[in-house]
Amino acid sequence: MEPVKLGVISTAKIGTTKVIPAMQKSTGCSVHAIASRNPDAAKTAADALGVPKAYGSYEDMLADPEIEAVYNPLPNHLHVPLSIKAAEAGKHVLCEKPISFNAQEARQLIDARDNHGVVIAEAFMVRYHPQWIKARELVRSGAIGEVRVVQGTFSYMNRDPSDVRNKADIGGGALYDIGCYTIVSSRYIFGQEPVRAVSLIERDPDFCTDRLASALLEFPSGQALFVCSTQLVPYQRVQIFGTNGRIEVQIPFNAPHEEGCVIFCDDGSAQGDASARKIAFDAVDQYTLQADAFARAVRGVEPLEFPIEDAVKNMAVIDAVFRSAQTGDWENVAT
Ligand SMILES: NC(=O)c1ccc[n+]([C@@H]2O[C@H](COP(=O)([O-])OP(=O)(O)OC[C@H]3O[C@@H](n4cnc5c(N)ncnc54)[C@H](OP(=O)(O)O)[C@@H]3O)[C@@H](O)[C@H]2O)c1
Repeated sequence: MEPVKLGVISTAKIGTTKVIPAMQKSTGCSVHAIASRNPDAAKTAADALGVPKAYGSYEDMLADPEIEAVYNPLPNHLHVPLSIKAAEAGKHVLCEKPISFNAQEARQLIDARDNHGVVIAEAFMVRYHPQWIKARELVRSGAIGEVRVVQGTFSYMNRDPSDVRNKADIGGGALYDIGCYTIVSSRYIFGQEPVRAVSLIERDPDFCTDRLASALLEFPSGQALFVCSTQLVPYQRVQIFGTNGRIEVQIPFNAPHEEGCVIFCDDGSAQGDASARKIAFDAVDQYTLQADAFARAVRGVEPLEFPIEDAVKNMAVIDAVFRSAQTGDWENVAT
């Protein structure tokens, strides 16, 4: 398969530190250009990463006929607008999570994809990690009985006012940044969509972002609960509870690529985790696996397992969680 020639929209930290190096390990992609609003920043980043071309504007890179696809790690308010511009320029798009501000905005990407005949994917790299594929396999095989509860926590401490996560007008806040992972993992494990949500959200008095959000989602066959926060001790964990057992994903979202990771499967027969069976995974870069899958979809080798319609569904849950925090009531997840 000919590697997909890819351009990166911006010098975003996630791109320069994680995703570009991971893409450079993928046989499916070749990172060909970086664009920035600042030409010097683009050149510096491209030189540091060994990327051949640097552009001083996103639009100039989109006009480059050599570029087949783009990776969009812009702040959240620019995910849909720049992804649409890229699609209009005939480029396939791998766009960072959360795909949009809400489901309605995300739906525009379905039209963009269909009108311009390109692939558009949301970059939820976790779903490519073998630990999640294994957790879902265990669930599907009935290893923990009937799944009834998925419980997720994701938090970090970040009070930097200059960080995009602390700017409400451009899509900051916990739910967009990390709550989206707890939601996507519960939908992945249940293999269903939640029907309604109730939530409690506390906002930072200065940033106005949601700094602490907790929610309960009702799925057709169970419940998901999650807590996410931008101002709490750094922590992440997902527990999947079935009628006969429990699966614990120890580093569910930021699994390191330099070393392996583990999940636990426990039938609960002994206390204090004594009956927990450890399942170990070799070191793997989930961003490389994501790039491989994106490239296969671009080349028509294998369709995306999670097309943009899935991103719309994830946003519909986020919408319901935000609405519930305002109304103080259960809110249906729009289908
Ligand atoms: N999948 C993951 O593991 C993961 C991890 C972290 C973040 N993310 C996602 O990636 C995206 C970027 O996060 P990040 O932490 O990497 O952000 P960041 O370092 O702040 O980078 C955002 C980039 O966007 C460009 N930009 C354009 N308009 C901007 C504006 N109004 N304000 C700020 N920057 C602007 C800037 O690049 P130029 O100056 O070069 O144009 C900036 O460097 C977010 O959507 C986030 O949710 C994903």
